[in-house]
Amino acid sequence: MPKLEVVASQDSVWNQLRSSAEAAGREEPHLASLLNAVILSHHDLSAALSFQIARKLGDEELRAMTVREVCLSAFQADTTIVAAAEADLQAVAERDPAIKTLLQPFLYFKGFQALQASRVAHWLWTQGRETLAFHFQSRISELFQIDIHPGARLGSGLFLDHGTGIVIGETAVVGDQVSMLHGVTLGGTGAERGDRHPKIGKGVLLGAGAKVLGNIVVGDYAKVASGSVVLKPVPAGCTVAGVPARLVNCPTAAEPARTMDHTLADVVYDFVI
Ligand SMILES: CC(C)(COP(=O)(O)OP(=O)(O)OC[C@H]1O[C@@H](n2cnc3c(N)ncnc32)[C@H](O)[C@@H]1OP(=O)(O)O)[C@@H](O)C(=O)NCCC(=O)NCCS
Repeated sequence: MPKLEVVASQDSVWNQLRSSAEAAGREEPHLASLLNAVILSHHDLSAALSFQIARKLGDEELRAMTVREVCLSAFQADTTIVAAAEADLQAVAERDPAIKTLLQPFLYFKGFQALQASRVAHWLWTQGRETLAFHFQSRISELFQIDIHPGARLGSGLFLDHGTGIVIGETAVVGDQVSMLHGVTLGGTGAERGDRHPKIGKGVLLGAGAKVLGNIVVGDYAKVASGSVVLKPVPAGCTVAGVPARLVNCPTAAEPARTMDHTLADVVYDFVI
């Protein structure tokens, strides 16, 4: 299957989404009305995104119209939210070999949708509107089985693959360009209060079912193997696996692609956790 071209500029994310929607509408007339309502009738990504979040989250308790107004206020007040959504779409295009066009994540990927709604919830949290932020969190959790506390700070270019069962605690921080699979928990140990959740560096891969517990740092570009329980810090660029997680791989360069460091990995046993 030809790999989707990584879209370069912010403008082209929206243009590519529109083109995909037009093509899909021609191929599948049954979806024409949905595609028109969610994408083609809008003039930019923020309008389409607010409609999509509202369509999903709105219910009898909080109408879609109101959810949409809240989203638009958030997008207007903080333009980094929509920029992050664009980077998230690009991240899916780059990293998910299963996708054919940006339509799939935008219309159907609950990881992407939960993430965008959570960004709005976080904005509400920063405005001191905690109850509405919790309402968003609750609806997101009900709909997508993804529970992200609105206080958590999330970077951009994130890819929540499959999404089911992801839990991210209040004081967690997730760096830019992180990928996480279903079943990831960024939680507390239960023994700490206050700042008690993990700090995930940029470009980290968190495999399916990985549990990272406590206020510990997972360094930039580290990998956490599927099914691991991580209780201690992870050095940048290294891989940990197992229960409890142990260092299994540690290249000598934290960013081998950038430094062009071709030396073989020496396991540095001081790092073993
Ligand atoms: C950890 C991972 C990222 C590979 O990273 P890596 O740095 O390339 O590690 P390697 O493949 O070199 O493996 C290093 C060691 O860890 C072990 N290992 C890898 N994944 C493991 C896991 N999930 N649990 C326990 N051990 C694991 C390997 O067997 C190897 O052990 P060995 O040295 O005794 O042979 C990958 O195995 C992984 O878990 N990816 C997540 C994939 C996922 O979640 N898929 C779900 C898709 S729906």
